[in-house]
Amino acid sequence: MSVNKSTILQHIYIQKGDITKMEVDAIVNAANPSLLGGGGVDGAIHRAAGPQLLEECRTLGGAQPGEAKITKGYRLKAKYVIHTPGPVYRGGKYNEASILQNSYYNSMRLAKENHCTSIAFPAISTGVYGYPKDEACRIALSTIIEFMEKENFIIDVYFVLFDDENYAVYKKHVQELS
Ligand code: APR
Repeated sequence: MSVNKSTILQHIYIQKGDITKMEVDAIVNAANPSLLGGGGVDGAIHRAAGPQLLEECRTLGGAQPGEAKITKGYRLKAKYVIHTPGPVYRGGKYNEASILQNSYYNSMRLAKENHCTSIAFPAISTGVYGYPKDEACRIALSTIIEFMEKENFIIDVYFVLFDDENYAVYKKHVQELS
């Protein structure tokens, strides 16, 4: 029996806050291709997880934009961190949309492969990387919904927004889907 959209929507949660506090199986890190930490949510996750996270990240050999790699969560409540470099937004003509879609798709794929029952996403690429929030939100929602439909896989998905603008955008788009 394939998973239908209304069931999927019951498993999507929008909340404002700090992703490092989430008690979920996996939190997603909006990383950079080095996977060696940075500012924004990347910096917050590394600070909360402690130095062992960076130690494990050093063994990963980086990641291309849109790829995702998984590590343990260490001092985080989350069991795993899924690291994915999103695209740097350069106006929209450099494949940014498909790279962002890949970041969400590959994060969901790793969550499924690691038998996660819950995952938390930040608004990937909408900070330092400058992706327009409204389009990024549409890509995030459509990609994770499509993944669950196609893979017949239900997982609790939390979008954890740190800023008011992203929170309002996600609330609006999820209401439009219902
Ligand atoms: N919890 C949840 N979301 C957060 C947190 C947090 N603790 N801190 C920041 N954010 C939000 C930002 O408000 C933004 O909406 O994460 C979103 C992504 O912003 P960035 O962290 O700047 O990430 P991104 O735009 O993908 O740029 C990635 O920034 O930190 C560096 O190393 C990172 O080079 C990479 C680049």
